[in-house]
Order: sequence, then structure tokens, then C-alpha cells
Amino acid sequence: MIRFQPWSVRGSAGLPLGCAAAALCLALLAPAAMAYPNYDDKVTPIGSGAGCVDCHTGFQGGNQALHTQHRVLANQNCNLCHPSGGGSVPVQTYWSGAVDGRGCAGCHGRDYGETSPNSGQAKSSAYGLRLVHDAAGLPQCLGCHSGGSLGHPFPLPAVLGEDILPVYYMGAAALTDPCSSVQEDLAFDGDSVGLDNDGDGDPDGADSDCVVAGTPTATPTATATATPTVPFACGATPAAGCVAPEKAVLLVKEKKPGKEKLKVVLKKLQPEVLPTDFGNPVFGATSYKICLYDGSDQLAGEYTVDQAGAFCDGKSCWSSKSKGYKYKDKALSADGVLKMVLFGGDPTKGKVVVVGKNKESTMPIGVAAALQGETSATVQLLSSDASCFGGALSTVIKAESDLFKAKAP
Ligand code: HEC
Ligand code: HEC
Ligand code: HEC
Ligand code: HEC
Repeated sequence: MIRFQPWSVRGSAGLPLGCAAAALCLALLAPAAMAYPNYDDKVTPIGSGAGCVDCHTGFQGGNQALHTQHRVLANQNCNLCHPSGGGSVPVQTYWSGAVDGRGCAGCHGRDYGETSPNSGQAKSSAYGLRLVHDAAGLPQCLGCHSGGSLGHPFPLPAVLGEDILPVYYMGAAALTDPCSSVQEDLAFDGDSVGLDNDGDGDPDGADSDCVVAGTPTATPTATATATPTVPFACGATPAAGCVAPEKAVLLVKEKKPGKEKLKVVLKKLQPEVLPTDFGNPVFGATSYKICLYDGSDQLAGEYTVDQAGAFCDGKSCWSSKSKGYKYKDKALSADGVLKMVLFGGDPTKGKVVVVGKNKESTMPIGVAAALQGETSATVQLLSSDASCFGGALSTVIKAESDLFKAKAP
């Protein structure tokens, strides 16, 4: 899905063809760049016209159906689009007044780790949306947005699959699932489906990215933003206030030296859990700790997964899913952890799963011994910059020197 577009010149400026040197292009584009990317550029007629309003008039005046329904999708958070409260203008496609406000691209684009030349801040890019316009006979959308321009890399990255969350779907908007037509569809338009966010012609659940389980089709090519990680560790006693599961299972099997196993399942997380409650290990810097405590709340085991933005076997170790994140590392390099599933959802729908397997002594051992003879235990998953999850395991099934198995309730 990588598109190479010749640099198309709109307006008068004689821009060089094949504008690969980003800095040069931006310098040349600067005057135009200030004006076009608004919903409505009331001042300067540049290029094809005055912005999205040329064809999509439904936001004008603030009281038509397109605007009203977008307010609902935005959870009445006016600053997801407006710069400074409801009604303020100009409404920009790439920035708004919200915290980390990404304008229209907050829902119509995805985070490729780019920086906006206009706002100087992190932005989302709407590569899929532009392919939808191209398919509708509007190739001009690809022109200014070719590789190396407007903060986009050269060559352009592969378009992220339909199941990868737009930034506003991680908490700011009333939307959490790009694969859900029920969530995305606007009641007044002709069809009953929502967006085709990757522009491959198949919206929502009709897209194979949404229906095929397993690895995502697109690998994020962006490098993670270098947010300094706060050093964190399992506390001497369990953390307070963690999201509790209704059901939990812990298995520590150390019967065969060198082939130890770990399994943690926290099921039916009681409150509603958003993907942001897990931080962001794909484009952010979130790392995780699995902390095990004995019946008297003494730390018995600690496993660390600090792989935000890292690559495992040529792919991003972490991948974004509509409900949260998945981790896979066949090399077992982070304390023997092979897989993790961190999924949010409505009350009692979220879950956390961690599966570990020892290989070449990467996994901490002696944990079953530390839990030997215990009649209860506590398991927690901590994140470095978001929530923690877990609770007490009141039913101990086995508490031997090389095998500990417990569950809740
Ligand atoms: C020259 C006319 C034109 C302009 C300018 C234009 N659009 Fe469109 N837009 C279209 C057409 C045509 C379609 C396709 C309609 C269809 O296929 O049903 C479309 C579709 C869309 C869709 C639906 C995408 C989907 O997945 O179904 C969105 C969202 C959208 N446009 C947003 C924008 C934004 C944001 C801008 C400004 C940056 C913009 N458009 C500018 C003509 C335009
Ligand atoms: C999805 C993006 C989006 C959201 C969310 C949104 N708006 Fe808007 N709104 C727009 C756009 C685009 C315009 C048209 C701006 C223009 O014509 O330049 C607009 C126009 C308006 C106008 C008319 C302004 C004028 O001078 O014509 C009002 C009033 C308004 N919005 C109020 C609100 C309020 C109040 C909220 C929050 C409850 C809100 N909007 C949320 C995108 C949004
Ligand atoms: C809170 C998330 C969100 C934001 C922010 C947002 N949109 Fe949308 N937009 C959607 C969703 C979801 C749809 C539903 C598509 C459907 O039903 O086909 C949509 C549909 C559209 C459509 C197509 C309407 C149709 O007739 O199908 C246009 C045009 C559009 N948006 C323009 C914009 C513009 C311009 C902005 C910025 C001012 C914007 N959107 C910001 C979520 C958003
Ligand atoms: C005249 C050049 C030009 C054309 C043509 C153009 N854009 Fe843009 N667009 C810009 C600029 C400049 C920005 C601001 C980029 C920034 O600062 O991040 C932008 C930003 C955007 C953004 C938000 C951020 C991003 O990178 O995705 C969307 C969405 C967008 N444009 C959609 C469209 C669509 C849809 C079309 C076709 C209807 C289109 N653009 C055609 C110049 C253009």
C-alpha cells in the first residue's frame, strides 16, 4: 500500500519535482502550509480551493446534521476540532485545542510518529482518508501529501490496517473500535457503515484486518517518541487501587530447570477499561511489571517487559488492537515473556493475559519456592505510566517448591 506520488503543483509557486528533501520542501511550502489545511480557509484561495468545506459543507453554521453527529462522536468535547471552545475558528485538520489535539486527523488519521510542520507537535496522518478521496476521483489529495512533505517521511509509510486505533479512539472521543460500524456510522448518511480508515475499499468489520486474528498486516514504521521512562518497580507490598478482575489464574511451573513456565490471566476486569489505561507501548514508552506476592504481602516474584517501540523478529513486539495491545516475542528476551494480551472494554469485558516460557535462563526462577505453602497470593500487572491491574488469589490449588497454582475467586 505504499504510494509514490509525483509532486503536484497547485497554485503558482514553482516547486521542485520529486521533493525528497523535506526541509527544502517545507521552506518552499511555508506560506501555503499556513492556509490550506483548514476545514474552511476563509482568507486565501490556495490550490484547489478553501479546504474540506469546498465539498463537505455540513459543518457550516454549527447546526447541521454532520456537525451535530460529529459532536456526539466527539463525546461533546468541542476542542477535539475547535481551537478554543465550541464555535471558535479556524477549525484545522491537523491540530485543535484539546490536550494532544489532532483536529480531524484525530479520528480520520492514525499516529505514524510524525511531527506537524505547522503546529510543531505530534500529529496524526490521514493516509487512508486520502486514498478514499483518490478512489472517488480526487487524486489531488495525494499531491501535497507526497513523501517527504508536510512532516511525512519519504517514502510514505505503508498504510496502517483498519484495526489500528486513531488517537482520539484511545479515550477522548465516544469511539473505541475502528472495526465497529455500530459505533462509527452516521445515522443520516446513505449506508450503515462507518469509516474506511485504511482506504482499501472495505470499511469496518468488512476489512480483513478486523476479522483475521493474529498479527496485524501493517507494521508501524515510526520510531517511538523518546519520552523518558520513570524508573518503576514492584513495590515491597502490593500496589493499592488496581483495576480488579472477577476471575484470575496464576501458574508458576518450575519442574524442569531451564523450562520454567508462567501464566497469568486476569479476566472480567470489573470497571470499563480503555486502551489508554494500559498506556501506549506502540508509540509511547510504556513498560510493564508482573508482580507476585505471598499470603503476607511479601514480594515473591517480579518480571519486567520494557519493550515499548522495540522490534521482535523484524516486527514491532507490541501491536495496537481495537481493544488494546498485544505483545509477542518468540526470542523470550524480556524475562522469558512470550505473549501478552492487554484488552479493555465495557465493564467485565477487559482482560490481561501473560504467558512466559524459560529459555537460556531469561526468566526469573525460584518463584514457586518463594510461594511454597502459601494459602493465598496476589498478582498484579503494573504499567509505567498508566493503570495497574490485579488482585488477591484466594483459592490455592498447589503450593509446592516447584509448582504454584492459584485462582480467584
Ligand atoms: C473536492 C471535493 C472534496 C474535498 C475538498 C474533500 N472531500 Fe472528503 N470526500 C469527497 C468525496 C467525493 C468523498 C467520497 C464520498 C463517497 O465515496 O461516498 C469524500 C469522502 C470523505 C470522507 C468519508 C471517508 C470514508 O472512509 O468513508 C471523509 C471523512 C472526508 N471525505 C473528509 C474530508 C476532509 C477532512 C477534507 C478536508 C481535508 C475533505 N474530505 C475534502 C470529496 C471531497
Ligand atoms: C468533529 C469536529 C467538531 C466538533 C467535535 C465540534 N465542532 Fe463545531 N464546528 C466544526 C467545524 C468544522 C465548523 C465549521 C467552521 C467554519 O465554518 O469555519 C464548526 C462550526 C461550529 C459553529 C459555528 C461557528 C460559526 O462561526 O459559523 C458553532 C457554534 C459550533 N461549531 C459549536 C460547537 C460546539 C458547542 C461543540 C462542542 C459541543 C462543537 N462545535 C464541536 C467542527 C466541530
Ligand atoms: C471524534 C472522531 C471524529 C472527528 C474528530 C472527526 N470525524 Fe469526521 N467522521 C467520524 C466518523 C466516525 C464518521 C462516520 C463515517 C460514516 O458514517 O460513514 C465521520 C464522517 C465524516 C464525513 C463523511 C460524512 C458522510 O456523509 O458519510 C466527513 C465529510 C467528515 N467526517 C469530516 C470531518 C472533518 C472535516 C473533521 C474535522 C473538522 C472531522 N470529520 C473530524 C469521526 C470523526
Ligand atoms: C495545497 C496542498 C494540499 C492539498 C491539495 C491537500 N492538503 Fe491536506 N494538508 C495540507 C497541509 C499543509 C496540511 C498541514 C500538515 C501539518 O501541518 O501537519 C494538511 C493536513 C491535512 C490533514 C491532517 C494531517 C495529515 O497529515 O493527514 C488531513 C486530514 C488532510 N490534510 C486531508 C487532505 C485531503 C482529504 C485532501 C484532498 C481533498 C488534501 N488534504 C489535500 C496541504 C494540502
